[in-house]
Amino acid sequence: VSGKLWGGRFVGAVDPIMEKFNSSITYDRHLWEVDVQGSKAYSRGLEKAGLLTKVEMDQILHGLDKVAEEWAQGTFKLNPNDEDIHTANERRLKELIGETAGKLHTGRSRNDQVVTDLRLWMRQNCSTLSALLWELIRTMVDRAEAERDILFPGYTHLQRAQPIRWSHWILSHAVALTRDSERLLEVQKRINILPLGSGAIAGNPLGVDRELLQAELNFGAISINSMDATSERDFVAEFLFWASLCMTHLSRMAEDLILYGTKEFSFVQLSDAYSTGSSLMPQKKNPDSLELIRSKAGRVFGRCAGLLMTLKGLPSTYNKDLQEDKEAVFEVSDTMSAVLQVATGVISTLQIHPENMARALSPDMLATDLAYYLVRKGMPFRQAHEASGKAVFLAETKGVTLNQLSLQELQTISHLFSGDVSRVWDYGHSVEQYAALGGTARSSVDWQIGQVRALLRAQ
Ligand code: ARG
Repeated sequence: VSGKLWGGRFVGAVDPIMEKFNSSITYDRHLWEVDVQGSKAYSRGLEKAGLLTKVEMDQILHGLDKVAEEWAQGTFKLNPNDEDIHTANERRLKELIGETAGKLHTGRSRNDQVVTDLRLWMRQNCSTLSALLWELIRTMVDRAEAERDILFPGYTHLQRAQPIRWSHWILSHAVALTRDSERLLEVQKRINILPLGSGAIAGNPLGVDRELLQAELNFGAISINSMDATSERDFVAEFLFWASLCMTHLSRMAEDLILYGTKEFSFVQLSDAYSTGSSLMPQKKNPDSLELIRSKAGRVFGRCAGLLMTLKGLPSTYNKDLQEDKEAVFEVSDTMSAVLQVATGVISTLQIHPENMARALSPDMLATDLAYYLVRKGMPFRQAHEASGKAVFLAETKGVTLNQLSLQELQTISHLFSGDVSRVWDYGHSVEQYAALGGTARSSVDWQIGQVRALLRAQ
């Protein structure tokens, strides 16, 4: 006798190396609570189907509560034969209530059990991650609102492009995160589907009422096909992709801040709480928090790619390969939770240097506005662009800044230039022109804040 829950047809013992290789208990123990929850629902289904008496069901429910209690109190003792959380809990249940425990798994397979557990766990976890994500977005919007009159250089290709509000930069990242939140909700909707009652592959032959199971476990829908239900891990892949895209956003923001925090930029300074020093160079204050956010992105992408490779080419229905989904989910969930909290801390404690931001603005960043000046005087944009380009060239040749060209010099380029061109050289005036919705004018930044706050309120 092998001592396994599946031991009936076995005479030989499993090699200890194989035993360890096969086991998933070191990580799937995280599922203890949802495993008990799923089993309690299933025993109610069995009772309704007439496969358990009311007394037997109560015995099982009571026993499962005791199992949960042991896990919660840290007194649950694993034994070497516990291959995974499902076998461990059932083994313990039998020790606690005797042979009745053997009725719990009637018509159930670990194939529908494990994926039910994982969905329950992920459903809860997505709510936690969603709350953390919104906490970060809220922190960013609060900052954007408080600091919306601070201007700094906007970059494209990392070259000075146009003056923008600092809040416009913050909001550009916050808005990307609102899409991640929306996407997470979508993923959660597809996680929230009940597979229990699908058995190993063919379904349930004992008349278990899956609508009862759905109601017991509060799932939004019931899986449609038992072969698909026990083997599809789309919801895991979607979650890992969600995390990957969210990490690209956070990593991009981290990279901007790392750059803005260099002495060369000096726009921002990370608080001590989110920096570390050098063991050799006493002057160093390194942005480790941001660097780790940037690097964790790689780890998360790896998990996403890894799962897709595991799934690719698998034959239909359950294969043990699928056991590998859980470590990816747990690791990525932990990473996302940490990253979101650290990002919130970084943003809420970040010090900014508006004077350095202002100093980094230069008149060449107003060349586009110079072209718009001519457009407003009636010149077609292509000609205006050319004329402004000539002014940039003239200033460069003369070794002066764009705003140092005299009116006479500008008029050699176009007779449309007149005294009011001096208004172009005001950065505050510049940003205020960008008042169409989504732009960097004060009114539009306020509108953006309103849009994101409306999403926050809808949470
Ligand atoms: N520990 C397994 C997993 O995580 C449970 C399902 C095992 N099913 C089976 N037929 N061997 O996927």
